[in-house]
Amino acid sequence: MTTLQEIIGSYNPDAPLEQAWTIPAPWYTDQRLYTLELQSVFAGSWQVAGRVDQVSAPGQYVTSEIAGEPIVVVRGGDNVLRGFFNVCRHHAAAVMTEPEGSTHNLRCPYHGWTYSLEGELKGTPDFSGVCDFDRSVNGLVPLQTAVWESWVFVSIKPNDRGRWPDDSALTNLENFLGSDLISQFSLLHLKSLQWMERRHYTFDCNWKVFVDNYLDGGYHIPYLHKGLDSVLDYSRYTIENGPRFCLQWSPMVREGAEAETGAVRQGDRALYYWIYPNFMINWYDGVMDTNLVIPRGIDQTEVIFDFYFPDLSEPARERNRASIEVGQRIQDEDVSICKSVQRGLNSRAYQAGRLSVRREAGEHLFHRLLHAELKAAEEEQRQ
Ligand code: FES
Ligand SMILES: [Fe+2]
Repeated sequence: MTTLQEIIGSYNPDAPLEQAWTIPAPWYTDQRLYTLELQSVFAGSWQVAGRVDQVSAPGQYVTSEIAGEPIVVVRGGDNVLRGFFNVCRHHAAAVMTEPEGSTHNLRCPYHGWTYSLEGELKGTPDFSGVCDFDRSVNGLVPLQTAVWESWVFVSIKPNDRGRWPDDSALTNLENFLGSDLISQFSLLHLKSLQWMERRHYTFDCNWKVFVDNYLDGGYHIPYLHKGLDSVLDYSRYTIENGPRFCLQWSPMVREGAEAETGAVRQGDRALYYWIYPNFMINWYDGVMDTNLVIPRGIDQTEVIFDFYFPDLSEPARERNRASIEVGQRIQDEDVSICKSVQRGLNSRAYQAGRLSVRREAGEHLFHRLLHAELKAAEEEQRQ
């Protein structure tokens, strides 16, 4: 049987794009590699845990799952935003079970243990007589939490000094994102946008199939997304790689635009940002949606779409809804192709593929970043 080390080693990260291959098929189908990804790529990076608008007032909280671990982010009575593992210190049940909400304290539904908004253990029903039990060290386990633009990020990895929480979380997040990306976003004035709707999509594929599809430089757009194709200037589609992000952008055209798409995709440019490993921000002339890619199994991926608009007034809503429907159609078109790719990756006929120099530099970056992380994690595991 092929070892994990051999699977990782079967990709050559040093090949220039003209000579490069994709990551090989077992990267998308091997359970050991998938587990390693959760432990390294997802547990080791800053991950989006919610939107800032969900936790703007004291008592507001949002739950999520990162690398398979339950997470809760809550704004304390002191107005400080804190993230915790959403795991009760009694018998490990999830303390908060709703996706979001507002509360005075965090009460576990199992045996009623209660934590303050700041994560301290306050109430333990029927627990008198228990020896050597110190409430003060049985609060919810904190994790690094920081805000960038419209999103709350958390990192479940202990910081360099091996302890949580960390005052330097924001610096760490900014280092992770990089100053180039941060300054590009400051020009987009995202604060003027308001969140309107969330949609969940399930893809029958490995999470990397979805990311590859996103990063193919518009290669699939003329074939798979005819509506979208009609508003983009495909020949001038541009791919710019950063250290850990990729910006794909395209001038927009009005002539020949398909009616439904053209009505809601206007402006001069469409910007598609991918931030390693699993967050995408799509911006078209003041309208934005984001895609958060969550692995749910080796061949199951959930993608959470959030749609933002500058104007949520009743007259504007109809146009906003039309814009969301255009997005929905594009996703529906991607769902079936991603499933088809996953099936092909399992075929004995396929090992790996080549990359278009013109189109697929983003995928090349993704595969190299992934390789570096998995190689290091696998070596560490073996030691
Ligand atoms: S598991 Fe939470 S109170 Fe028992
Ligand atoms: Fe697509």
